[in-house]
Amino acid sequence: MDQRPIGVFDSGVGGLTVVSEIIKSLPNEELIYFGDTARVPYGAKTAETVTKFSRQILRFLLSKDVKSIVIACSTASSNSFETLSGEFGAPMIEVISPGVEDCAHVTRNKIVGVIGTEATIRSGRYDELLKEKIPGVQVHSKACPLFVPLAEEGWTHNTITRMTAEIYLQELLDKEIDSLILGCTHYPLLIDCIRDIVGPVRIINAAESTARKLRAFLANNEMENREHKSKGHRFYVSDNTRKFSRICNLVLRQNYEAIKIDIESL
Ligand code: DGL
Repeated sequence: MDQRPIGVFDSGVGGLTVVSEIIKSLPNEELIYFGDTARVPYGAKTAETVTKFSRQILRFLLSKDVKSIVIACSTASSNSFETLSGEFGAPMIEVISPGVEDCAHVTRNKIVGVIGTEATIRSGRYDELLKEKIPGVQVHSKACPLFVPLAEEGWTHNTITRMTAEIYLQELLDKEIDSLILGCTHYPLLIDCIRDIVGPVRIINAAESTARKLRAFLANNEMENREHKSKGHRFYVSDNTRKFSRICNLVLRQNYEAIKIDIESL
């Protein structure tokens, strides 16, 4: 048993979709979250910049004595995980492979859609893993850069979001995909709009897949917290605590106050 907290990070509020799933599946665990609200979005940045930002955040989370870290950001997972997992000794879980594994169980026609940020799609990581896991798969990927600002704004159900989703997703529907991976942790915040548009297409929410993977990892390594003595989750951001806390409390249905830190000075 290991009672230390788990570190989770994202560029902003997207990783809260992963936090919400972790809380459901591992209620005894205490989480320390960092949202890089001063520098969101990561999806329009280069791999070098995303890796540099992620490295600073990992140092911050490790200074809090976390037992493992969940990179709850597909952009950082696809662009920086390999480099950073070699640099830091702490166990790290990324969000790409859990979604791919779930997709392999779900697709029937092997025509799969992936939506994500520009940097995630450009990395080719989903393509590579899907082809490894599902022989003969056809992958159709689409960067949806407007989804992140809409989710950060809390515009989860309005007309602008619906119209944007229609424009982005039609192209994938025309390819007859039978499953769609939400390859950005912000996107589950827009899942109702996305579901309305894709209809019977199976949606793979990588946040759920990742929480399951974390649970299995902790169990296999006897690292779960079996006693419920949590001091409560803690949330840190690099800017604008009020805006973050508003969305955080909506997503998690609890009142949390985020703390602002200067991540660049660490
Ligand atoms: N939530 C992130 C992801 O999963 C980052 C989005 C962004 O900052 O552009 O890719």
